Amino acid sequence: MRRLGCKKIQEKIELELKAKTDSFVAKGNRAPSLAVILVGHDAASETYVNNKHAFCSRLGFLHFDYRFDEDVKEDEILSLISELNARDDVDGILVQLPLPSHIDEKRIIEAINPDKDVDGFSPVNVGRLCLGEDCFIPCTPKGILKILEYYDITTVSKKIVILGRSNIVGKPMAMLLMRKGLDATVTVCNTKTPDVKEYTADADIIIVATGKVGTLNSKMCRSDAVIIDVGVNRIKDATREKGFHLVGDADYLSFENTDCQITPVPGGVGLMTVSMLMENTFIAAERRGN
Ligand code: GUN
Repeated sequence: MRRLGCKKIQEKIELELKAKTDSFVAKGNRAPSLAVILVGHDAASETYVNNKHAFCSRLGFLHFDYRFDEDVKEDEILSLISELNARDDVDGILVQLPLPSHIDEKRIIEAINPDKDVDGFSPVNVGRLCLGEDCFIPCTPKGILKILEYYDITTVSKKIVILGRSNIVGKPMAMLLMRKGLDATVTVCNTKTPDVKEYTADADIIIVATGKVGTLNSKMCRSDAVIIDVGVNRIKDATREKGFHLVGDADYLSFENTDCQITPVPGGVGLMTVSMLMENTFIAAERRGN
């Protein structure tokens, strides 16, 4: 098995982005800026949001932190988004998902100005992605492409199976891999796929993004498959200071005595997602200029 760790890729991207940011600011431009909205107190979401702010600080980005209790009214979030859309000192806007069930996620995402939608979730950016046009590419799929590029794994003419059809990962990933230049043959499985193994057993690359522990194991894959594990699942663990440890959606240990290549959790895709958010925020700032 070959471990496709992402720490080195993250460090490389961070160095490059820091240099680009320093030079952008030295030319008299305001530093790139990101506004992050978090509703509720989900521990995992709080960690992700804190990581985003910490990354912004390291790069010298401006960042604005908006946190609301679980019972906040949808209108309050909508009026904040409207204010952030209009503000000249905000390049990127991110609303951490998932949102509480009384808030209409679709309405919130649609309210974000597509030019500030650094997540690439708004209908305009999704449409552009499908059409192969220039757009904000969602951070996790964009990060997965960086991993494949770093490890010299081509997608051209490859059979790629995606497990999970979410708007955040599965769907945009499929759209990207179908693009000219990436040229993969893509299959997307979902919870109603009768026999997932029928597809995974023949795949060159498998991207697992189901949010379920043990979705994929080595018996379901070719002995030389590439596995990209998007899952981040907390397993209770009294031996750890935090009371849990993280595992992916794939059964990592089952791949140990195979020729497969697999991204670890932690230390894999998650590191790329936040790096790509920074890259998208920098792109938004560059487009704005001055
Ligand atoms: N929740 C899980 N992943 C993401 C992401 O990439 N962006 C946002 N906004 N929320 C998330």
